[in-house]
Amino acid sequence: MAEPKENVLMEKIVSLCKRRGFIFQSSEIYGGINGFWDYGPLGAELKRNVKELWWNTMTRQRDDVVGLEATIIMHPQIWKASGHVDTFSDPMIDCKTCKGRFRADQTNEIPCPQKPSKMVSECHGEKTAPRAFNLMFQTYVGPVRDESAIAYLRPETAQAIFAQFKNVLETSRQKVPFGIAQTGKAFRNEVTPRNYTFRSREFEQMELEFFIKPDEVVEAICGKVATTAEAITGNIEHPTSNAEHRTGNPQPSTLNPQPNWGWEAWHKYWVEERIKFYEGIGLPRTTLEEYWQKPEELAHYARACVDILFKFPFGTQELEGIAARSDFDLSQHERFSGKPMGVFDEELRTAWVKLPKEKSDELWRRYYENRKKYLVKMGVAEEQASKDATEDANGLAKGQYIPHVIEPSAGVDRLILALITNAYSEVTGTDDKSRSETRVILKFHPRVAPVKAGVMPLLKNKPELVKKALEVRDRLRPWMNVFYDDAGSIGRRYARQDEAGTPFCMTIDFDTLGEKPELKDTVTVRFRDDGRQERLPIGELLGWLQARIR
Ligand code: GAP
Repeated sequence: MAEPKENVLMEKIVSLCKRRGFIFQSSEIYGGINGFWDYGPLGAELKRNVKELWWNTMTRQRDDVVGLEATIIMHPQIWKASGHVDTFSDPMIDCKTCKGRFRADQTNEIPCPQKPSKMVSECHGEKTAPRAFNLMFQTYVGPVRDESAIAYLRPETAQAIFAQFKNVLETSRQKVPFGIAQTGKAFRNEVTPRNYTFRSREFEQMELEFFIKPDEVVEAICGKVATTAEAITGNIEHPTSNAEHRTGNPQPSTLNPQPNWGWEAWHKYWVEERIKFYEGIGLPRTTLEEYWQKPEELAHYARACVDILFKFPFGTQELEGIAARSDFDLSQHERFSGKPMGVFDEELRTAWVKLPKEKSDELWRRYYENRKKYLVKMGVAEEQASKDATEDANGLAKGQYIPHVIEPSAGVDRLILALITNAYSEVTGTDDKSRSETRVILKFHPRVAPVKAGVMPLLKNKPELVKKALEVRDRLRPWMNVFYDDAGSIGRRYARQDEAGTPFCMTIDFDTLGEKPELKDTVTVRFRDDGRQERLPIGELLGWLQARIR
């Protein structure tokens, strides 16, 4: 039986990634290690570009987001407070016949032992009952390997942001609403890593925790919380408009943050910002979908969560999650560390005294109820929860509250796979000897392309051409990743760059040297996607390229 087209595409991508040095199996010479992947020369550049673009967009281009670079191993109490020690697990089962170990919710297909990118049916042997398997990698800090030395490799970068919230707030002169961004490695001992790099055991995340005022605080200050319809001057389809709970391809909208925004408007805003980011690096809206989690799918503390999905060859799957996480995380760290995580807000204090009694009572009650609900859910006894919630609600009059958070959390590796999938295209033409051949072109957006420009002398054995080409390379090199290539026919060199996803090639020929005086010191710029060529003066190349890669 012929393989489904998607699997064929996946096989081609995996083979291209290895052949061209995008992605290698980790520890390949020893047979590899399941769920771990290395990035080769082109992959490393691609990954670096993606992370840098995310960082620039999320922090440097904004006044209201700052960065953090925290350690991978942190105090184990962090993972107690976050809930990871107790609940970050997958249901695992063993097959008594084939001795395989699987996730109970994914037993119909497993990665092929010979080709992990390919899924195969699993054996029908008798299975054990599912048991919870914690996904955190455990280690020991210091020389003694006992309970007290247990630590974990972080399963997400987010928790360090919550743990350092107060330090960042105090040193950055930010005020709520503001965000803290972090990129870095995360580790999950996935029961069944699958779909190439899609579900790995070591991967990278790019996470933002954007802290906002609770709705009661916004209402006290602004009189009213803007409805999402008021906040959004655009057109986002209603999330519940189709049975699958998918909105289909996201629609563009315009959102400008306003003081009267509550969590819903901020949440929509970040969904839209993130989709714009993906568009800006070459993933069109048509390749993405929004999935609004149903109430029963949400984590108990979350008010809403939207997954941004990408149409991977193996199915439409999550690229990023954008969750409205209430004040759960900061509250947990406050309770576990005993350190206050609340903020003081002068605007709230002044507004509160001016509120009619009826209004302040109503807001007090709502805040109290939310706090109590959270505390009871966390196992605090009813009476104690009422007492603590009263204290928290009394804080409003003093301008105090625990911020809520919106969390856009993206995976670097999944994005790399999405970019490669989206860029992958084939053209069939003829080679130097007029034989039919199919070539691969990776149509990366110039912003993410690992190599921005190929620089080539027309002929390798003409020192004047080589000298000029090296001059062009050296002129561009301080500003971007360029690749000098003088080996083989010019057609072959273009083809190699097409396969690497290089958007532009600059060829230095005899006209560059002045054979046609009017073309002296110009080069041929050849475009990857359509093979079109233009002549540009060398002096203009840098500005021309920069305008296209920024
Ligand atoms: N702090 C929230 C959080 O970590 P998540 O949905 O578990 O949420 C966020 O992870 C993103 O991290 C996912 O959307 C995905 O892109 C990436 N990710 C999660 N697990 C992964 C894995 N095993 N391999 C590769 N990427 C993963």
